[in-house]
Amino acid sequence: MDSAAADPRTILPPLHRLPTAPARPPHPTTLPDGTPAWLITRYHDVRQVLGDPRVTRADLHDVGTAGGTADVAANPASLFNQDGPAHRRLRGTAQRAFTPRAIAGWQPWVAAAVQQSVDRLVAAGPPADLVPAFARPVPFAVTTRLMGLDGDGPDHLDEARLHRWTLALLAQGGEQGGTQAADHDGALAEFGAFMKELVARRRREPGDDLVSRLVRAADQDGGVPEESLVFLVAGLTASGNESVAGALANALVYVLGERPEHWPRLADPDIAERTAERLLHYIPLGDDEATIRRTTAPIEVGDVTVPADAVVAVSLGSANRDPAVYPEGLDADLGLPLPAPTLAFSAGPHYCIGAWRVRLEMRESLHRLATALPGLRLTTPVTELAWQLGSTTRSPARLPVDW
Ligand code: HEM
Repeated sequence: MDSAAADPRTILPPLHRLPTAPARPPHPTTLPDGTPAWLITRYHDVRQVLGDPRVTRADLHDVGTAGGTADVAANPASLFNQDGPAHRRLRGTAQRAFTPRAIAGWQPWVAAAVQQSVDRLVAAGPPADLVPAFARPVPFAVTTRLMGLDGDGPDHLDEARLHRWTLALLAQGGEQGGTQAADHDGALAEFGAFMKELVARRRREPGDDLVSRLVRAADQDGGVPEESLVFLVAGLTASGNESVAGALANALVYVLGERPEHWPRLADPDIAERTAERLLHYIPLGDDEATIRRTTAPIEVGDVTVPADAVVAVSLGSANRDPAVYPEGLDADLGLPLPAPTLAFSAGPHYCIGAWRVRLEMRESLHRLATALPGLRLTTPVTELAWQLGSTTRSPARLPVDW
């Protein structure tokens, strides 16, 4: 027990207990890398700043991040690191592939994929580790089906390979003690080649999957750089998969670990839906405090003037806990609707394009797992969990349960 307590990966607080900066008017701060910045923490200030066209993102990809080419969040080809016409073009292309009709068509098989993972878990019997037995297989099944990577042939992607690529892409150490440099570079090169070839193949032989839709939309729109398209497909596959797996596991940590009385109530689909929203609202994906922007002109926020050319650190976590908007906090009834729309998926032009997927998978997972296993319980205290560390995510390495 002593050696576990000395391990920094086990003494981190669970993400739902991570302290956030209190909601206050904009004020100067210093980012972890030493960059001076303005910190925005209040709900209405955050909404305003994220929606202000004078606040940009494009030239900031390496400010306040871990930096380096391996940091996926820092890649300038990413949708997230673009602004203005280039961003609107790529974003429009992505959104044309995610039509409400397409999303409605995906819902039944997402539910079926969740149910299949539940059935497999129940059939294998207790005890179990919910990370490899549920939180990873659910998003993996959805990701591979969505991207058309679940068939036979050259596009087939198995879970171990995607996990290895994702670790290299998002790695910052990892529970396994970190990927070795050579393996890391090899994995990234392999992933890049696979995704480039995938895009080329779907251009030649389109299907009904999301990659084909993205390629078709990009080619019809014109002007989308191939590198950005490939990076978008790679990001939707690896980061999309990893973020849902992490969010799901961290949600289970909180409900099973601290709100066991709420667990059986999730058999009610409406309660599961509202609980999913509350958990996504209060539990961040990782330890990063803020999303970073830059002002191109002086802007008035509250009664404060943030000068032009200032780096702005926008804290979604603080805004989501602003007591003026959310007086009841995390410990309230999880079955109640939130009093205001969450900022967990940001706001403005960079609003998360995967939000629909996260909500759907979270809701279906909680509902179906609690229906099948109302007596599910954690067998390791939350304070003793080990963590899988990524550059933008943190999630439990294991989640031992019994029922
Ligand atoms: C719990 C899971 C997730 C959370 C909490 C989350 C949150 C966010 C946030 C906060 C942003 C905007 C950051 C900013 O404004 O600075 C964002 C952007 C984005 N997200 Fe998500 N996300 C999640 C899952 C996903 C998934 C599953 C996908 C894809 C299938 C996805 C795709 C994207 C993309 C492409 C962007 C960039 C959009 C742009 O810059 O225009 N996300 N996400």
